[in-house]
Amino acid sequence: MSNVLLVTSSPRGSEGLSTRFATQLATQLAEQVPGTTLTLRDLAAAPLDHIGEAYVVGRATPPDTRTAAQAEAVQLAERLVAELAAADAVVIGSAMINFGPPSPLKAWFDHVIWPRVTFRYAGNSVEGLLKGKKVYLVTASGGDFSEEPLAAWDYQSGYLKHLLGFIGLTDIEHLRVEGTAHGPEAAQAAVASADKALQSLLQRAARPLTATPDSVEATQ
Ligand SMILES: Cc1cc2nc3c(=O)[nH]c(=O)nc-3n(C[C@H](O)[C@H](O)[C@H](O)COP(=O)(O)O)c2cc1C
Repeated sequence: MSNVLLVTSSPRGSEGLSTRFATQLATQLAEQVPGTTLTLRDLAAAPLDHIGEAYVVGRATPPDTRTAAQAEAVQLAERLVAELAAADAVVIGSAMINFGPPSPLKAWFDHVIWPRVTFRYAGNSVEGLLKGKKVYLVTASGGDFSEEPLAAWDYQSGYLKHLLGFIGLTDIEHLRVEGTAHGPEAAQAAVASADKALQSLLQRAARPLTATPDSVEATQ
């Protein structure tokens, strides 16, 4: 039994390419292992509240002395963390909005990044507590940011990878759907290229985790 969590966040509804590719990836990953449960957290259709005083003060308050508002805010974060912790693979779709991720996705991270729950301070460093999961990050952008000169303007990919790594999710595959703003032909090419990358990701994911003759040879 395996669990795949799909998190989507594009504000463009059915037009959203990050949602389209992330959904396709999550669905096909789930189909690779019979009995897999696919859980959808659609942050565009059902946005989370931004964190506020009830959550921040509530999570630092013992459960039996929380106000009703604090208890509700903390319980929501607990549900989101439990959903994430239960996943063996996490697929995240993120639309670039003003060079960063959409705000509903930021709000999701604000709920699941939680000291002593999903990360802890260890001496002078930090230890992420969610380990052993595969993450597939699907980012979509109008511009083309994988190469210079615009790479430095991508405050989405590096930021999301940093947040994921901070809570222990360091095994990340990144699929970009980019350059769709440069006219219909460029958009078509971007989708075709992302399609190819998606098929290659799925093939790699389907490969059994046993040594192949090649890898045995490589280690000798
Ligand atoms: C409000 C808004 C802001 C955007 N900001 C940027 C941006 O800063 N840089 C960029 O390259 N594309 C930007 N775009 C284009 C989107 O990143 C592009 O349409 C992408 O495909 C969105 O992801 P989605 O297809 O999953 O919705 C923006 C689009 C919208 C609607």
